[in-house]
Amino acid sequence: MSTNTTDSAKKVTTSTIRKMKAAGEKVAMITAYDYTMASLVDAGGVDMILVGDSASNVMAGNATTLPITLDQMIYHGRCVVNGVKRALVVVDMPFGSYQGNPQIALASAIRIMKETGADAVKLEGGSEIAESVRLILSAGIPIVAHLGLTPQSINKFGSYAVRAKEDAEAEKLLADAHMLEDMGCFALVLEKIPAALAERVTKELGICVIGIGAGPATDGQVLVLQDMLGMNPGFKPKFLRVYGTIGDDITRAIGNYVNDVKTVVFPTLEESY
Ligand code: KIV
Repeated sequence: MSTNTTDSAKKVTTSTIRKMKAAGEKVAMITAYDYTMASLVDAGGVDMILVGDSASNVMAGNATTLPITLDQMIYHGRCVVNGVKRALVVVDMPFGSYQGNPQIALASAIRIMKETGADAVKLEGGSEIAESVRLILSAGIPIVAHLGLTPQSINKFGSYAVRAKEDAEAEKLLADAHMLEDMGCFALVLEKIPAALAERVTKELGICVIGIGAGPATDGQVLVLQDMLGMNPGFKPKFLRVYGTIGDDITRAIGNYVNDVKTVVFPTLEESY
C-alpha cells in the first residue's frame, strides 16, 4: 500500500507539488535531457524532471552552463517531454534568455512552453530578475526559482564554492526567497548553501523548497542524472551521492562488444538472416 499522498499513475502538476509541501511529503527531482533517459527516470517514480541547463556541461562537454542556447534547451525539453508520462517537467531558461529584458524573458518562456510542452520554467536569481518573473507569471507560466549557487553567474562568483555563508548574502537570499514566493513562484531550488539557512528558508516558505547541496531539511532534493548514476567519475562534490555504476557498465559492455566483433563471436548464425 502506498504511503504517498500522490497517485503513482497520475500526472504531477503544480497543485500536486503544493499539496506535497502541505502534507510534508518529500519531492524527488532529477535532471534529464533526452527521450530515453527521461522515460527511464519517469518510470523510476520521480515527481519532477528538470531539463537543466547543466545539459551544457553533461551533454555538450562545455565548462559552464553559459554557452547553451534557447533553441538547444527547447530541443532537449521536447525530447524529455516526449518520454514522460507522470513527472512534472521543468525546463531551465538559459543564460541570456531572460536577464535584463523582461519582454525577451516573456518571449523566451512562451517559446519554451509552446515548443516543448513542458509544465514550468526555471530561472536563476532574485530581485535582479523580478520584473521578468512577474511578466512570465502573468502569462500563466509556472516558475521554479533558483537561489544560492546560480551557475549562470559563475563569472561574477569566480568559483562554485558554497554561497550565502556570510550574513549579508544569507539575508539577501532569505528576502529574495520571500519575494519569489509572494510573486507566485510555486517552487524554489536552493543550490549549495549552508544546511541551516536552507532549513530556515524551508520553514518560512509555504512553497516547495528543493535542495542540491543544501542539507536534509528542504522539501525535496535534486541531482544531475549523469552524476548520480556514476557517469561522471571526475565530479565528486560532498553533496553528491552516487547511486549506480552506469559509466563503468557502459564501458564494460562496449569493451565486450568490441572484443566479440574482432574475434567474430558476434554475430552468430542465429543472429543472422
Ligand atoms: O541545470 C541544472 O541541472 C540545475 C540543477 C543543478 C538544479 O540547475
